Amino acid sequence: MKKIGPEPYKIKMVEPLKQTTREERKKLIARAGYNIFNLGSEDIYIDLLTDSGTSAMSQFQWAALMQGDETYAGSRSYFRLKDTITSITGYPYVLPSHQGRGAENIITEMLIKPGTIVPGNMHFDSTRAHMQLKGATPLDLVIDQGLKPEADHPFKGNINLNKLENVLKEHGREKVPFVLITVTCNSNGGQPVSMENIRSAAELCRRYRVPLYFDAARFAENCYFIKDREHAYKDSELIDISREMFSYGDGCMMSSKKDGLVNIGGFMAFKDEVLHQHACQLSILYEGFPTYGGMAGRDLEALSVGLQEVLELPYLRFRVEQVAYLAERLQEEGVPVVKPPGGHAVYIDGKKFLPHIPQSQFPAQVLVVELYLESGIRAIELGTTAFTEKDPDSGELIYPELDLVRLAIPRRVYTNAHIDVVAESVLSIYKKRDQLKGLKIVYEAPVLRHFTCRFDFV
Ligand code: F0G
Repeated sequence: MKKIGPEPYKIKMVEPLKQTTREERKKLIARAGYNIFNLGSEDIYIDLLTDSGTSAMSQFQWAALMQGDETYAGSRSYFRLKDTITSITGYPYVLPSHQGRGAENIITEMLIKPGTIVPGNMHFDSTRAHMQLKGATPLDLVIDQGLKPEADHPFKGNINLNKLENVLKEHGREKVPFVLITVTCNSNGGQPVSMENIRSAAELCRRYRVPLYFDAARFAENCYFIKDREHAYKDSELIDISREMFSYGDGCMMSSKKDGLVNIGGFMAFKDEVLHQHACQLSILYEGFPTYGGMAGRDLEALSVGLQEVLELPYLRFRVEQVAYLAERLQEEGVPVVKPPGGHAVYIDGKKFLPHIPQSQFPAQVLVVELYLESGIRAIELGTTAFTEKDPDSGELIYPELDLVRLAIPRRVYTNAHIDVVAESVLSIYKKRDQLKGLKIVYEAPVLRHFTCRFDFV
């Protein structure tokens, strides 16, 4: 069995977890309409719904909170955060936002004109929605291997450079306001992008005079993968990898709820002063005065510390290995997982796990429900419930190719013993998978149905 290194921290404050019985969980999940979004967190043992905003802060972050400067304008905490972000990215102009989508809103409003196209490796849902709202067409150009769960490629988040060049050549800077690279690429499993790919994409962008931006929500995990998998960087410091990576872009937007190691927040950073000034104008309207941007001074302080801690090698090595360990324990017993595991989550292929359940009966959601029943673990379906579309003419349902279960691992929250509970629960279900039955939807909202729909067994 794969070995796993010990936690590089010890626990100073504990949050009790409630253990329920299977009988209790049966009632709770039925009451929730078999939708895990309707469960109260009190009734969950291990919560793997998301790695966003769920990190544990360090003693240094809690101490930093006390130094928050809650001034409306010119907060000391802002300048401290700005210096940290500039040291990590090289970008001199920094603007906080209340979370990632606040930054997405401002950047897309500034840069996008209706009828344009925004290429990227794979845009995250909220980013894509902001682009569409401003009249642009988001275009995912991830390499082909990035869309195949079986393909074992070290950088499945890479952008297809030929496709990118064709788009830039055909449409030019008039039609392409910017290119966005998401590191790591959440939408295909937290897969990294190589430095070589980023460098080449940046060269193309320069040649066609189109700006390049990063969605940097998981930038530190991407830096670790570059160090671990890209030979030229094996002896590099993570901070130097980070600076080089960002040096190829014109700016970034970031949800601090992931690699910021805090529970709320976000920011934008720019190379260009004029753009920053424009963003500041919009911030006053949408987020708040530019030295707080929707965040409390204390949260700016905690983020400043989190952004430094997240680039520490023992932390990142443990983080990425903990995720990989879970994937390998499952894979060893034949559980179909997306390969290789990404930075923040393990994905199980629902259709392969439960081949006797047709896609119309939500195999991945069946596994999510069973995981809760088995041991009180909350995972999330990213598949048939979330992504099925209706043909506008025939009304016929178009199912997504992939029906996945995501086990997202919060940062510094669960110990290796918890991860073993997760592995054993999935393996125990795998042994009795033939007995599981399909689900049907009994209530659904017209948009984003996965958040509120209700199911029952077929
Ligand atoms: N970009 C990426 C790559 C993300 O994964 C997210 C959020 C956002 C932007 C938006 O940031 O939530 O702070 O507004 N991802 C979360 C998840 C919700 O569960 O993967 P936000």
